[in-house]
Amino acid sequence: EQTGTIFEAIGGFDTIDRLVTAFYKRVGKHPKLVPIFPEDLTETARKQRLFLTQFFGGPKLYSEERGNPMMRRRHLPFAITPSRKDAWLECMHAALEEAEIAEPYRTAIFEKLTMTAHHMMNTPE
Ligand code: HEM
Repeated sequence: EQTGTIFEAIGGFDTIDRLVTAFYKRVGKHPKLVPIFPEDLTETARKQRLFLTQFFGGPKLYSEERGNPMMRRRHLPFAITPSRKDAWLECMHAALEEAEIAEPYRTAIFEKLTMTAHHMMNTPE
């Protein structure tokens, strides 16, 4: 029943895992992002794996554990400025390359995440 999803097309859990690992390696070093993220990103990365699995059409693991995603609301405690949004997307762009996700999925994933990242901004520069 999961046919035709981006999740399945890119290789499922293993690929999401490689993407998320490559992403938080960069987040943990980015001067714009370090101030708002926890020092230990293990738990953040774990939740992101659940979320991205679900977001790209895989099993609804995030909602099973955390309920309604309400992503904008969950980000309100953090000052997400336009430059932090750009930094987040920069890290994601590089991670998509490192994880060697093939086209057309790479672009499709980045476009969907770009829209969501815009929606997450909650603070002016
Ligand atoms: C959690 C920052 C965009 C998905 C977080 C946390 C921060 C953050 C600081 C809390 C980490 C923690 O306490 O463990 C940002 C910034 C963004 C951004 C600066 C720039 C626009 C996004 C986008 C998505 C996303 C676009 C999804 C497509 C998540 C998820 C969590 C999270 C799933 C965990 C939520 C939970 O606690 O269940 N983010 N985020 N974020 N973010 Fe983002």
